[in-house]
Amino acid sequence: MASPSQSGVFNQPPDPRVQQFTESVQLDRRLYAHDILGSQAHARMLAQVGLLKAEEAKQICDTLDEIGQEIATGKLPLRVELEDIHMHIESALIDRLGDVGRRLHTARSRNDQVATDLRLWARDEIDAVERLLRQLQKAFVGRCEADRDIVIPAYTHWQRAQPVLAPHYWLCYCEKFERDRLRLLDCRRRLNVSSLGAAALAGTSLPIDRHATAMALGFDDVARNSLDVSSDRDFVLELAFVLTLIAEHLSVWAEEWIVWSTSEFNVLRLPQAYCTGSSIMPHKVNPDVLELTRGKSARVVGNLQSLLVLMKGLPLAYNRDLQEDKRPLFDSCDTVRACLELAASIVAESTLNREEIAARLDRGHLDATTLMEALIIRGVPMRTAHHLVGTLVGEANRASVTLAQLPDAVFEKVFAEARVNLDASIKEVLGVANAVAAFQSYGSTGPQEVAKQVRFWQEQLGMTTA
Ligand code: ARG
Repeated sequence: MASPSQSGVFNQPPDPRVQQFTESVQLDRRLYAHDILGSQAHARMLAQVGLLKAEEAKQICDTLDEIGQEIATGKLPLRVELEDIHMHIESALIDRLGDVGRRLHTARSRNDQVATDLRLWARDEIDAVERLLRQLQKAFVGRCEADRDIVIPAYTHWQRAQPVLAPHYWLCYCEKFERDRLRLLDCRRRLNVSSLGAAALAGTSLPIDRHATAMALGFDDVARNSLDVSSDRDFVLELAFVLTLIAEHLSVWAEEWIVWSTSEFNVLRLPQAYCTGSSIMPHKVNPDVLELTRGKSARVVGNLQSLLVLMKGLPLAYNRDLQEDKRPLFDSCDTVRACLELAASIVAESTLNREEIAARLDRGHLDATTLMEALIIRGVPMRTAHHLVGTLVGEANRASVTLAQLPDAVFEKVFAEARVNLDASIKEVLGVANAVAAFQSYGSTGPQEVAKQVRFWQEQLGMTTA
């Protein structure tokens, strides 16, 4: 069968393998609703400028609504020889309206059409991902009240570093996802420009009104250069990048919570609803959702890589290579949405093991840096204080005790040897509770600073009860 994209210039039908090879409808069918919106805006504009009769535009728009319904309910058969969703919709229109249907593609090419559809689709995806990011942020902020007095060790190099309030940890993730959210909105702003009417690449000699279609479709502007816009997939790359960062942030969180939920750490209890068992070991409750969140991020990174390589070195303007942008973009959106959705529930429903955390807080000298700062405030030069506390930690390690448990005499000996005029009363600054309370710098984990941050996020996310 001849392909509908074959004009009269062809005297050979396509090889059936070519139809299989070149079709994209299995993937781009999901653009159908946006394709119909774009076509309806285009038809109305054609009527406004006199290229269609008002009556014809109405017939086209109504019939496109019907076709949309049929696609939504799976009634419109998909045929490889019709190549993509754009050809399916146009061909269904022509089947029903004959010559009126044959006028729809006036002053339009699939090049500007597919770019328009993809922008409209991406815009909706961004809005959906943005809502999911908000939901995840709310889950983190929602924990802050219940966990407000829990102190947990924070790490560098996976070594115990300093104590922080649990809400400090939760808000740390809010910040990361907020940057992702702002990047998404920024990407949305840049992609919300109409490609429609660029036609194949050079524009058209027909008297179209690109601003009218742009406004009807909710675009903020019209792309200035037809050649640019028919080759442009920057917005696909940008969105894929933002999604990659979200996936990476989720992966970091997942890795952390996997470790925290091990018997070795035993800091966190994951709800069993988000875990699965083992086919051989009856005792296992594995954190599979977190592991897959970490694992799926690999594919999202790979999708970005595919897109970057796809675009590298393509000549202007449209090339069929561009059809390959959909699989990675769709996959990244689907994957990140699925991960975000489950992440919000896991964050909201997991619990910290208060007793276990508290029982081990005095390991690892989480208060050593506080002691050093106490020496500094009493006039000891920073490097000297750093060295002295290191010496005291060495003594404590040899005696298998905490800094607070070291005999006063050891402190006094170390101070005396360094000609530091202080005594063992400085030990009163020690202990994890004192260490946390002592933090006061802006953005630190000090209780007042954290309370401020919690209030900030509650307001940002509309979570204040007042
Ligand atoms: N299926 C194609 C795509 O997704 C539509 C555009 C085809 N344009 C063309 N000149 N062959 O990119």
